[in-house]
Amino acid sequence: MGRCCFYTAGTLSLLLLVASVTLLVARVFQKAVDQTIEKSMVLRNGTEVFDSWEKPPLPVYTQFYFFNVTNPEEILQGEIPILQEVGPYTYREIRNKANIQFGENGTTISAVSNKAYVFERNQSVGDTNVDLIRTINIPLLTVVELTQLPLLKEIIEAMLKTYQQKLFVTHTVHELLWGYKDEILSLVHVFKPGISPNFGLFYEKNGTNDGDYVFLTGEDNYLNFTKIVEWNGKTSLDWWTTDECNMINGTDGDSFHPLITKDEVLYVFPSDFCRSVHITFSGFETVEGLPAFRYKVPAEILANTSENAGFCIPEGNCMDSGVLNVSICKNGVPIIMSFPHFYQADEKFVSAIKGMHPNKEEHETFVDINPLTGIILRAAKRFQINTYVKKIDGFVEMGNIRTMVFPVMYLNESVLIDKETASRLKSVTNTTLIVTNIPYIIMALGVFFGLVFTWLACRGQGPMDEGTADERAPLIRT
Ligand SMILES: *[C@@H]1O[C@H](CO)[C@@H](O)[C@H](O)[C@H]1NC(C)=O
Ligand SMILES: *[C@@H]1O[C@H](CO)[C@@H](O)[C@H](O)[C@H]1NC(C)=O
Ligand SMILES: *[C@@H]1O[C@H](CO)[C@@H](O)[C@H](O)[C@H]1NC(C)=O
Ligand SMILES: *[C@@H]1O[C@H](CO)[C@@H](O)[C@H](O)[C@H]1NC(C)=O
Ligand SMILES: *[C@@H]1O[C@H](CO)[C@@H](O)[C@H](O)[C@H]1NC(C)=O
Ligand SMILES: *[C@@H]1O[C@H](CO)[C@@H](O)[C@H](O)[C@H]1NC(C)=O
Ligand SMILES: *[C@@H]1O[C@H](CO)[C@@H](O)[C@H](O)[C@H]1NC(C)=O
Ligand SMILES: *[C@@H]1O[C@H](CO)[C@@H](O)[C@H](O)[C@H]1NC(C)=O
Ligand SMILES: *[C@@H]1O[C@H](CO)[C@@H](O)[C@H](O)[C@H]1NC(C)=O
Ligand SMILES: *[C@@H]1O[C@H](CO)[C@@H](O)[C@H](O)[C@H]1NC(C)=O
Repeated sequence: MGRCCFYTAGTLSLLLLVASVTLLVARVFQKAVDQTIEKSMVLRNGTEVFDSWEKPPLPVYTQFYFFNVTNPEEILQGEIPILQEVGPYTYREIRNKANIQFGENGTTISAVSNKAYVFERNQSVGDTNVDLIRTINIPLLTVVELTQLPLLKEIIEAMLKTYQQKLFVTHTVHELLWGYKDEILSLVHVFKPGISPNFGLFYEKNGTNDGDYVFLTGEDNYLNFTKIVEWNGKTSLDWWTTDECNMINGTDGDSFHPLITKDEVLYVFPSDFCRSVHITFSGFETVEGLPAFRYKVPAEILANTSENAGFCIPEGNCMDSGVLNVSICKNGVPIIMSFPHFYQADEKFVSAIKGMHPNKEEHETFVDINPLTGIILRAAKRFQINTYVKKIDGFVEMGNIRTMVFPVMYLNESVLIDKETASRLKSVTNTTLIVTNIPYIIMALGVFFGLVFTWLACRGQGPMDEGTADERAPLIRT
């Protein structure tokens, strides 16, 4: 009977060890888990993945920070602007997808992303209808820009002479964001109906969408999950001067494909930024107990490099690193994008303004993605809206102003997974963890039986081998 146990343990141990190693090498369970996830992360009517894509369950907040101008007279005389940051003014976003239509194969889906903004007074520094911000007169800059068009030059110059405009204006936060009727724009509107009489940094952005999208559902390949194929009926942009720069790459940034590896470069197309950007792996994080990969927008996105030369408009007219002229995609309003406080931009932009304090913690854009499911656990999208000012002969409004990129406002659009969603996600990741660890459990069993085998071997043979020669001999003699 002892012999039987001995051989059983040995055989079992060997079999289990071989099996576990085979399973590990062939990655059987890993592949099974991966395949299950690849199959489930698909936009298909009636699934949970579809529902949370259609109506994102996590609360997204957008916080606005304005730069209040403290020395308007001095700036007009050519001094450095002294700006004071005021904020946050926090809005909760209400998001949902509408006009959803599946393509014939189920491989594509078209939709619009509606966004509405609800003010959260108790997470803000003040009331948007009361708080006044003195800032640069963007409508005036827009109109001055228009004088470069030959036909309008005389009309606008005459108009500006009649209606004396100031370069610095004071409006409520609500007006600056959601729009106000501007006197000079209203006049231009008569001649050029394409120009709206209203101006606001988020004018007509409440309860509306940023265009028609066609996405891939991930049915053909999990790597294509929610990848954009068309935006407003076009597969690429036409604002920039090279094909690479005009490409619409990746997702809209609200979802990513599952099974992310850290060597991967991810692409997103945030339409408000007017271009695709890539994000790169920067480190491991833990959010509400869930593992995450932190992806960041690298500095090279806005660097003055040959890859970015296609974003210089007019062609060849590159600015220093850290800014992007998006005037062409904002109806000619001279808007320059950057990261908040000119984070990662050329030092020259920072030192041209008093009040800029760029730092990584507050001003970088990042997203923490659960690598298994591709679900966003935490994110902060941050960018700053600036204008470009310079002294122009013949326009007294501009005074003696320095040439500079002038900050107006920056925002932080952030999301954080809640405890309930996190714990549901955790049970999924734990299950996969157990499944993928089955080979190790088998291996542990193999090792256990191997120990039993060794133990039996030592007990059964030990006394026979070592004991016999020395101990038994005297017994026989006596
Ligand atoms: C999803 O299915 C429901 C019920 O079957 C249907 O009413 C709805 O129109 C479908 N949605 C889409 C986008 O096809
Ligand atoms: C359907 O899928 C096939 C490949 O699976 C593709 O070639 C074809 O273009 C698709 N048709 C439509 C209408 O999407
Ligand atoms: C945006 O629209 C929603 C619903 O239409 C409304 O409740 C909210 O007050 C609006 N927000 C702003 C800033 O006007
Ligand atoms: C903030 O206001 C909302 C309602 O507008 C309320 O539900 C929430 O509890 C408030 N939060 C705090 C911290 O007062
Ligand atoms: C911005 O500056 C103006 C002018 O100095 C001042 O009246 C206003 O109260 C400031 N706004 C805030 C929110 O501090
Ligand atoms: C979908 O993914 C596969 C593999 O990555 C790729 O070859 C294919 O071009 C993708 N489809 C589209 C429309 O991008
Ligand atoms: C889009 O992706 C391609 C590679 O797939 C890359 O060459 C190109 O530079 C990207 N464009 C932008 C604007 O990110
Ligand atoms: C941008 O880079 C180009 C080539 O590298 C260089 O010639 C140019 O001076 C740079 N522009 C600025 C504003 O630094
Ligand atoms: C920004 O781009 C517009 C064309 O869209 C151009 O007219 C303007 O000069 C550019 N601004 C700067 C500062 O380069
Ligand atoms: C958003 O970013 C700002 C600074 O850019 C920071 O002060 C704020 O706490 C952030 N909000 C959230 C919810 O993380």
